[in-house]
Amino acid sequence: MRRCARGAWLIAPFLGLLVRLGAAEATPSSGKFIAITTHRSALVFFADQTGVLYQRSFGRIPVTPGKSLPDSTRYEEALPCYGSGYLLEPALQVVHADGNTSTELRYVAHESSAESANVSVTRIHLRDRYYDFFVDLCFRTYAAEDVIEQWTEISNRESAPVTLGRFASAAPKFQASSYWVSQFYGDVLREGELVEERLAPGLKILDSKLTVRAHLNRNPSFMLSLDGPAQEETGEVIGGTLAWSGNFSFGFDVDSDARLRVLAGISPLGAERRLQPGKTFVTPAMLWSWSAAGKGQVSRNFHRWARRYGIRDGDKPRPVLLNNWETTFFDFNETKLLALFDGARDLGIDLFLLDDGWFSDKDPKNHERIGLGDWQTNPRILPHGLSFLADQAHQRGFGFGIWMEPESVHLGSKLYRDHPDWIMRQPHRELQAPNTQLLLDLTRPETRDYVWKAIDRVLGENPGITYLKWDANRVAPQPGSSFLPADEQQHLPVDYQRALYEIMQRMKEKYPNVTAMLCAGGGGRVDYAALKYFHSFWPSDSTDPLQRIYIQWGYSHLFPAWALSSHITSMGHRPMKFSIDVAFTGALGIDRDVAKMSEDDHVALKQGVRVYREHVRDLVQHGDLYRLESPYDNKRAVLSYIAEDRTRALVFLYQLRETAMGPVKLRGLDPTRLYRAHELNLPRGEKSRLAIEDRVVGGDELMTTGFASPLRRAIESAVIEFTTEAK
Ligand code: GLA
Repeated sequence: MRRCARGAWLIAPFLGLLVRLGAAEATPSSGKFIAITTHRSALVFFADQTGVLYQRSFGRIPVTPGKSLPDSTRYEEALPCYGSGYLLEPALQVVHADGNTSTELRYVAHESSAESANVSVTRIHLRDRYYDFFVDLCFRTYAAEDVIEQWTEISNRESAPVTLGRFASAAPKFQASSYWVSQFYGDVLREGELVEERLAPGLKILDSKLTVRAHLNRNPSFMLSLDGPAQEETGEVIGGTLAWSGNFSFGFDVDSDARLRVLAGISPLGAERRLQPGKTFVTPAMLWSWSAAGKGQVSRNFHRWARRYGIRDGDKPRPVLLNNWETTFFDFNETKLLALFDGARDLGIDLFLLDDGWFSDKDPKNHERIGLGDWQTNPRILPHGLSFLADQAHQRGFGFGIWMEPESVHLGSKLYRDHPDWIMRQPHRELQAPNTQLLLDLTRPETRDYVWKAIDRVLGENPGITYLKWDANRVAPQPGSSFLPADEQQHLPVDYQRALYEIMQRMKEKYPNVTAMLCAGGGGRVDYAALKYFHSFWPSDSTDPLQRIYIQWGYSHLFPAWALSSHITSMGHRPMKFSIDVAFTGALGIDRDVAKMSEDDHVALKQGVRVYREHVRDLVQHGDLYRLESPYDNKRAVLSYIAEDRTRALVFLYQLRETAMGPVKLRGLDPTRLYRAHELNLPRGEKSRLAIEDRVVGGDELMTTGFASPLRRAIESAVIEFTTEAK
């Protein structure tokens, strides 16, 4: 009872400030509360009289003060450190200058400042009880979007270097009856696969070890559901995604009392850091969003945040592309490209994207995948160069873009012959170079400079290029650098990423009008660190629309559809309408030889581009996603986008198997309004089979009774637009 009364007194004044300041404190002598808040969520810490910092809660903004009392056990510590009595997985592991392997952090102070009406930063300063070793826990809150960005800054002011073994960005803890984690698993061609499991006691690690790409096997994101499997619109769910393109590690540690600690950050494997005196190591940011209204709300929070803060030019429409990769692969030349341009004349595309194979050294034999590193146009294939092609595209009414893979080099390239020491490799080991391809060591300043100059030259000399697809097809099996000193070889995985971001930043700054696509052998690099510099990402080399339904479903949990490049191709040999309708829930592109397709397909494609421009693109970008029926649980997939003011909705229906299905029930509409239904993108000459076509139905009825799907057979699709009518 005493604890309860004291707790109420402690937190009561603090609650008043909570909403206004984003971070606040009570100042009784017995301790301090620090609350990091958004409009609907809070991450609350408590520093006791001795300065130990505990995490009190993560989720709902506390309304029952007594319940927020600290238990003051080691397991509640905000940033558990190795060697000081914490016997589970630590967030921080340091060897101090004198060899001491323990760290004991104590609260020193905290402060908050507003960056805008919506964004605030809070820093909690901690220091070791004995050593001049400092840690800041940093939080940036995006109030309206309910997103919290969290990172850690570690400073060494001891007299000699310290060694960092572990350095998590965040280590929140949770208390629930059960924990369910969803990861977005997958290899090349099957990225974004949603796999959910219940966490058992012990440590579960989800990670990546490829060094230069965030993943091959999984995206650096997860959804954590408390007290049961994640539901779309109910239950407590926390979405987490690490803004980092390299090795990452998410540890989920369930202890014997069924408490969960999540340790999120750069993978410590092979990445031990020596931190020099006077230096600070800043971890990448972990982005969190919590909701008690299911994972659907968490996704919508991230999508809104990405549009405003996370992805480059998030409010601008993405261009409709014609890409030649799956149409030609490496088998193209200027004549073939001009024929593709001509075929696309009346399609309504915004831009032609020329993919891999346009460059190489001057040896005619070295056409395919040999010139990586030598970024000159291959005169045998493109005798008039890139600017000529860009002009030709512009004359036909669209823009022009190119593919580059700036971080890679081929063994046969001039670059490699001139600078064999510029690649990542380890001494005394046989070089592993599948496809004769290697990775450049971007920690070396000359290499970094070369890579930037290559991009700068291609874009600078050819101002007609207004789009760049930045690919990264190689992983780093031998992460070694001939530039870094012996005792900093393990800095490579982190320093490589930092160098990479520096180049990406230069590209963004110098070429603000060049739209950029992030790609890595499919979706091997999709994260919010890189997406700051890019407008869209390539999610997978699988463009089979049937498979894409699953892939796009997976990515949609953390990443918005308008940034996901989705091309209409012939992969999977699906009906044209199905391919178009699936590509609609993304940044639309086409990778087909238009001149060689049937008249019906041509008409369908042209209509598809028009419908996308007039009815789909804007709502997919600015509307809210509702995932209605998962392809994982059903024989159809249904999703919808609803305008913020709920005056318009688009519903996408994809029938996966042949079977009769129940009604489609919508969510997110205004129950008091009437909506008129209209099926879009019907094939030429076909009438809608939608029972409510051109009828007016109440929002409440559409959400409770629903409507009958017009689809029966497998691989059929429908796109239905709902617009409000005056009552
Ligand atoms: C990767 C990309 C593809 C294509 C090829 C070119 O696989 O994901 O889209 O650009 O490289 O080699």
